[in-house]
Amino acid sequence: MGEVSPERGDLTVSDYGWLSAEEKNFLAQMRFPKRRREWLSGRWTAKRMLLKALPALAGIPMAEISIEHHKHGYPLVQVEGQPLLGCLSISHRGEKAAAAYAADDDVFIGIDLEWIEERHPAFLQDYFTVDEIEWVNSVCLEERAARTTLLWSAKEAALKALRLGLAADTRLIEVHPGMEKHGEDWLVLNYRSALPEEGYRLIGWWQQRGNTMLTLAVHFPDRETLSFCLREIYLNA
Ligand SMILES: CC(C)(COP(=O)(O)OP(=O)(O)OC[C@H]1O[C@@H](n2cnc3c(N)ncnc32)[C@H](O)[C@@H]1OP(=O)(O)O)[C@@H](O)C(=O)NCCC(=O)NCCS
Repeated sequence: MGEVSPERGDLTVSDYGWLSAEEKNFLAQMRFPKRRREWLSGRWTAKRMLLKALPALAGIPMAEISIEHHKHGYPLVQVEGQPLLGCLSISHRGEKAAAAYAADDDVFIGIDLEWIEERHPAFLQDYFTVDEIEWVNSVCLEERAARTTLLWSAKEAALKALRLGLAADTRLIEVHPGMEKHGEDWLVLNYRSALPEEGYRLIGWWQQRGNTMLTLAVHFPDRETLSFCLREIYLNA
């Protein structure tokens, strides 16, 4: 029996037939139910998104799509035993998961999903720059949770796009949320980085959905400009 909540619609699958052999092995080693549920939710969401986004995958069973980990934690996709070009990113929070995919092999993306919640002022001091703290504190108390969550999520998305994860100091990537719209739902995110890496180019987008903040960052180290169509984000909410 699957451990996924019965309220989860598609995730009521009662066996793990949609997982690859490698994924089943990985799942068998996971000890904590919360982590298992989140991992399953992320894999399910990502596979559904890939099948929807990539016509070339039509007819391929979900179990032939295997989402494994690089040693640094980021997801690597195998389709029928062959690596899938492009970049996949996954985020999960409790009962929700989000996945995004960029087909180009010189573009790296990071998606992040966060619940909007208040954080202790010490959190800001530890993880945000002086300008970011000022931006959060420039609004009334009720609005600060949304701003704090947006900055935090945007940093995590960027650190995923850079494939660094939280090994990097989050203050080295300063977030500048814009009000410029992209399509129906997205607003632009600008980044300023003090990271030592060369060829660093990063842009992002954000949107708020109820009490959830969703951010997407794109790292394009080898391109002068980026033409990017936000199309295939798949949110399993
Ligand atoms: C990456 C990181 C920012 C994730 O943020 P989070 O808010 O805790 O969790 P999210 O649900 O948003 O994202 C988790 C997903 O990020 C991805 N991820 C993990 N490390 C990553 C990295 N270095 N770069 C890009 N993506 C990464 C994975 O797909 C992971 O989901 P999965 O393990 O189920 O496949 C943070 O957890 C981190 O830096 N972790 C340290 C790296 C690590 O633990 N590596 C383990 C080696 S296996």
